[in-house]
Amino acid sequence: MKQKLNVGLIGHKFMGKAHSHALRDISMFFELDCEPVMHTLCGLGDDLAATAARYGWQRHADSWEAVINDPEIHVVDVCTPGDTHCRIVVAAAQAGKHVLCEKPLALNAAEALEMYRAAQAAGVRHLVNFNYRRVPAVNLARALIEEGRLGTIYHFRALYQQDWPLDPEFPYLWRFDQTVAGAGSMADKGSHIVDLARYLVGEIDEVAAANEIFVKHRPLSEQPGARKEVTTDDAAVFLARFTGGAMGLFLTSRMSAGHKNCLTFEVNGSQGSLSFNLERMNELEVCFRGERPEGFRTVMVTDAAEHRYIKNWWPPGHVLGWEHTFVHQYYELFQAITGGYQPAPSFLDGLRNQEVLDAIEVAAREKRWVTVTRSEAAA
Ligand SMILES: NC(=O)c1ccc[n+]([C@@H]2O[C@H](COP(=O)([O-])OP(=O)(O)OC[C@H]3O[C@@H](n4cnc5c(N)ncnc54)[C@H](O)[C@@H]3O)[C@@H](O)[C@H]2O)c1
Repeated sequence: MKQKLNVGLIGHKFMGKAHSHALRDISMFFELDCEPVMHTLCGLGDDLAATAARYGWQRHADSWEAVINDPEIHVVDVCTPGDTHCRIVVAAAQAGKHVLCEKPLALNAAEALEMYRAAQAAGVRHLVNFNYRRVPAVNLARALIEEGRLGTIYHFRALYQQDWPLDPEFPYLWRFDQTVAGAGSMADKGSHIVDLARYLVGEIDEVAAANEIFVKHRPLSEQPGARKEVTTDDAAVFLARFTGGAMGLFLTSRMSAGHKNCLTFEVNGSQGSLSFNLERMNELEVCFRGERPEGFRTVMVTDAAEHRYIKNWWPPGHVLGWEHTFVHQYYELFQAITGGYQPAPSFLDGLRNQEVLDAIEVAAREKRWVTVTRSEAAA
């Protein structure tokens, strides 16, 4: 009989729904060595009980401490705002739970280091939810780079653009408060593209950056007529130098009219290039030097040969969506738990990511190039 793994999910809104959906689907599509159980959904708000029932959870709890202290729970999944991640994750690890945590892992590198160390000390499995690593086209991009098909990598360029708070009357929420959300668009969107940069090209050594808050005050829904100061950036740009010698160019913005969830990247090497757009996520543009006619061509990335997970879904051409990346992340975590190894991206990846984000903040504030400080975390 397969080992049952009881999951406690903390946070029942946007990510809570995406993760619940992944848990509902995973056993139907993936052959696992365990049986995941949707044990307890935790969150704040009157709609918790109804949401838990609708998503298929056995129980609900309005205190994350109750989830951590429940001896029946084996896996804790953290889908709450950033300022809560560190204390929930550290407590969960110390209670011996395996932990999946949403990105960015923490508010700063000091917190991320504490979380990594707590998980390592407890000997639990840990995964940070950089789910774009699990997009088929991103898998293919990484495989082509590893095979050397692009030659020496010269450039990595990534833009992550949205426009949801473009209207200055869009109401204040936790994402506008630096003490809750971290750096803003750079923490929220930037953490994803920094992870892709690290995944595809390697570590970043140095950054130069600038950021901006375009709408400085936003209306408070609960107090008509009142506005609150915004302390997270609406947009940020940075330049980077990679350990391997490549140069990087990055933009994150939540003020890019017309862009809903537009994450694009391009990698240019001595032998070719790759180009990706999340809004066309089943495709990868590739260009290899010497091919005739030379130029970009579009590859539909839905063949089993090109993707680690695709055989579990549909026949070629029956495209995957954003929600499938969450299923793939859970697959990596569950297989690592039953297989007794550490999955990726781990909290060490979350820490390395946070160290880059911290350097970007200093570079923007001090208007200079900043060296990324990497702690001796693995020691
Ligand atoms: N991987 C991705 O693509 C992606 C996308 C969006 C958000 N995120 C990340 O997911 C996390 C959550 O973001 P979201 O958009 O789901 O936020 P949200 O505002 O939609 O939901 C937050 C949830 O946390 C719960 N919560 C807050 N404080 C709590 C507490 N003290 N105890 C118990 N529950 C508490 C709320 O009740 C709510 O259910 C953030 O870290 C965010 O950066 C990741």
